[in-house]
Amino acid sequence: MIKIGIDKMGLALPNYVLDLKELAKARNTDPDKYTIGLMQKAMAIAPVTQDIVTLGAEAAAQILTDEDKAAIDMVIVGTETGIDQSKAAAVYIHGLLGIQPYARAIELKEACYSAAAGLEFARNHIANRPESKVLVIASDIAKYGLHSGGEPTQGAGAVAMLVSANPSILELNWDNVYQTRDVMDFWRPNYSPYPEVDGRFSTEQYTDCLQTTFEYYQQQTGKTLDDFAAVCLHIPFAKQGLKGLRSLKPSEKHEERFLEAIVYNQEVGNIYTGSLFLSLLSLLEQSNNLSAGDEILLYSYGSGAVCELFSARLVDGYRNHLNPNRLEELAKRQTLSITDYEALFFETISLDEKGNSPELHPDDSRFALQGIENHKRIYRKN
Ligand code: CAA
Repeated sequence: MIKIGIDKMGLALPNYVLDLKELAKARNTDPDKYTIGLMQKAMAIAPVTQDIVTLGAEAAAQILTDEDKAAIDMVIVGTETGIDQSKAAAVYIHGLLGIQPYARAIELKEACYSAAAGLEFARNHIANRPESKVLVIASDIAKYGLHSGGEPTQGAGAVAMLVSANPSILELNWDNVYQTRDVMDFWRPNYSPYPEVDGRFSTEQYTDCLQTTFEYYQQQTGKTLDDFAAVCLHIPFAKQGLKGLRSLKPSEKHEERFLEAIVYNQEVGNIYTGSLFLSLLSLLEQSNNLSAGDEILLYSYGSGAVCELFSARLVDGYRNHLNPNRLEELAKRQTLSITDYEALFFETISLDEKGNSPELHPDDSRFALQGIENHKRIYRKN
């Protein structure tokens, strides 16, 4: 059978970060609640000029060659931070990247889950067209609001994955199982900038979906946890992932790999659709305990709820296709004060009666939102 999987991975984060100890101080909360109780350290903060389009385009631009852009015939963006009720963010990104025109570009939505579905759709597409490549992007800005329960679990960022035949990083196994259940644990009505969250219930749903889907996965595949060198999970905050993993009765090695798989998430916060793949990137770049042929189990969870379990196998030489300097790059982000965080992350764009925005702050990133003209979002590419 043709081998299909992740050939390249890119990560884009905004240039700003808030230390959760600062947030704890401002909210009169014991910092241990965030750093030990939630197991989080910091969260990435996006200015108004950085959205799911600019972050998604940046994550992809880091990895794509001209040859890739000529071969890509599908762009899938998974997000729950849509910038338009009609036009897909994937269309803007396709244009900004200069991907050949005879491609399909779509946006998928189901809370934090949809990029996992995108990966499966990409694999099935390539099974029928082995010469083509598919760009799958998970891009989100997790914003719960000032003084909200979810405030310490916010974040922003995008992960881009190039899916192809004979991939350089991970081969996807054909063992996906999924579950859908209609629950109201986390949702965002069209009229609201922030989600409604039944926090405790959402944490229970995350773990119950994992346990029941894993039982089904075992029945379907005959595999057990021992077959996997590591488990990567959706990480809304690291403690949630640990609780989920522990509900599967992991071995010591799985807990050790888990700690390697949350290094980036602890510094970035929740990036919804991208969180599972950020954790995967963290594991692959930060672990010295994996080798080619090792199998990794992945758990995607999107509130509402849909979840999926699937697995992948590490390809020989996978580390040569990753970024060994990621942590140094993360450390270069600008640390914000509480006042700046509150102003920057919660700034909104006001429009005049013709649908024009005032001039936005300068942003010298490779891709930035320049403004809104006549209700159209105008992106700048440097
Ligand atoms: N020192 C050490 N630990 C402390 C502490 C202290 N001083 N104070 C509290 N803690 C611990 C608590 O014991 C608790 O740990 P356990 O759950 O292991 O007992 C942890 O810190 C959190 O404390 P609380 O439960 O009291 O915190 P909270 O009520 O303020 O809210 C939350 C927690 C509900 C998860 C909230 O952060 C939230 O609503 N988050 C957003 C929703 C979310 O992320 N849900 C996850 C599942 S849904 C999903 O995965 C999709 C998605 O991305 C949203």
